[in-house]
Amino acid sequence: MKIIEASSYKDLSAKAAMLFVAQMVEKPNSVLGLATGSSPIGLYQELIDYYKKGIISFKDVVSFNLDEYVGLPKTHKESYDYFMHDQLFNHVDIKEENIHVPNGIFTDANAECDKYEALIKAAGGIDIQLLGIGVNAHIGFNEPSDVFAKKTHRVDLKEETIQANARFFGSEEEVPKEAVTMGISTIMAAKKVVLIASGENKFDALEKTINGPVTPEVPASALQYHPDTTIIFCKTSS
Ligand code: F6R
Repeated sequence: MKIIEASSYKDLSAKAAMLFVAQMVEKPNSVLGLATGSSPIGLYQELIDYYKKGIISFKDVVSFNLDEYVGLPKTHKESYDYFMHDQLFNHVDIKEENIHVPNGIFTDANAECDKYEALIKAAGGIDIQLLGIGVNAHIGFNEPSDVFAKKTHRVDLKEETIQANARFFGSEEEVPKEAVTMGISTIMAAKKVVLIASGENKFDALEKTINGPVTPEVPASALQYHPDTTIIFCKTSS
């Protein structure tokens, strides 16, 4: 693991963006693994700036998002599909058919999850995967558990995750209680991983991730076994 301390959220976003820009310059048809939440917003703004300056293009990029809430239509403002279009996709030249966000509305969860895995495989695997981290060290929506969930799967969200995400909804009651998420082995199969974390409320999770035992109780700790993971963190959340 490479650990980089940034001086501010802006610095963290700029540094993380440079890793994505380098990837896209080297391989314009990169397969990007993307995340939602507060952490990547600054990074996405940086990428939009690089695109506007003509330094990168998304025209041959393929994207796969980590996760989606179960039951939210793509038109719902808190769906991750909506978030990604709002924060990044609507501002760059990515092709709609190259965008993949897990489908949160389905009749057969297993079939939907298997389809997502097959799509990632057919695209040649993820070149660079962006991750945030939960206060309980979840990555994607892989919550602390007895076992490392492997592939894309449906998951019950933990109370602390529902509480943390209530800030995006009107109240805790409105936060969906289930999600579909890439599994730990899906994430571990990415060629490169970039995890970003800002603010002291993430420090305990980061400490356990970097220095603690590798255990499914700390899902991000699996990254200790990933051959090319960079963690960029800063003390303040702004
Ligand atoms: C989002 C995701 C989550 C978040 C994590 C941190 O797609 O998979 O694991 O990265 O909950 O969220 P923020 O960045 O809002 O603190």
